[in-house]
Amino acid sequence: MKKNPYQGKFIVFEGIDGSGQSTQADKLVDYLSRPEQKFQLGKPGAHLTKEPTNNLIGGLIRGQLTHNWQTKQECLQLLFAADRAHHLEKEIIPLLEKGITVVCDRYFFSTIAYGALEIKDWDWLIEINKHFLSPDLTFLLEVEPKICLERIEKNRFSIELFEKQKILEKVWQNYEKLSKEFKNIYIINGEQSPENVFEQIKKII
Ligand code: TYD
Repeated sequence: MKKNPYQGKFIVFEGIDGSGQSTQADKLVDYLSRPEQKFQLGKPGAHLTKEPTNNLIGGLIRGQLTHNWQTKQECLQLLFAADRAHHLEKEIIPLLEKGITVVCDRYFFSTIAYGALEIKDWDWLIEINKHFLSPDLTFLLEVEPKICLERIEKNRFSIELFEKQKILEKVWQNYEKLSKEFKNIYIINGEQSPENVFEQIKKII
């Protein structure tokens, strides 16, 4: 993966569905946008974004995740990679070039951790992502799959493709494997209140 050569920092949140990574990404952007934080990561302010994106390719992906449209797994993984390439080119890199911190809810670790459920060729999943920018920091939220599913059932109307306990257990194993293969990944205990989880993140930041 390509090391970040830009002035802005690129920070990623990962975790299985229901682990709270979106909440924490949101909290970090709020925190970094406070005027008193401007000394921290270069310029003040931070930009929140997510994958799959809400752009054209992200829309195709969501169609598949909600069972409205079907392709083979290889095609889905290539769509995730294409969505990422477009996201980097049009949104992430232009902001990093300006010195703005970009906080992304899910990135290429999601492709490997989820994609490896169906695609047995782990190296291929890494290969199709290998020219992309490496995050400066990745927070991986650790929460028992059972707890994640309880949270999801409370908060959402529909359950997506990956939101089942056995599946989430396998996804977590993949995340753990990745955390040993790649640098700058911090595993955070996500089973506390959102405020306490964020305290751990703040210390690392
Ligand atoms: P999610 O963050 O759950 O979106 P939302 O909560 O807005 O519906 O992401 C959708 C799913 O996509 C999630 O289960 C993880 C999966 N995913 C992959 O399988 N590969 C990827 O590369 C990415 C970014 C996500």
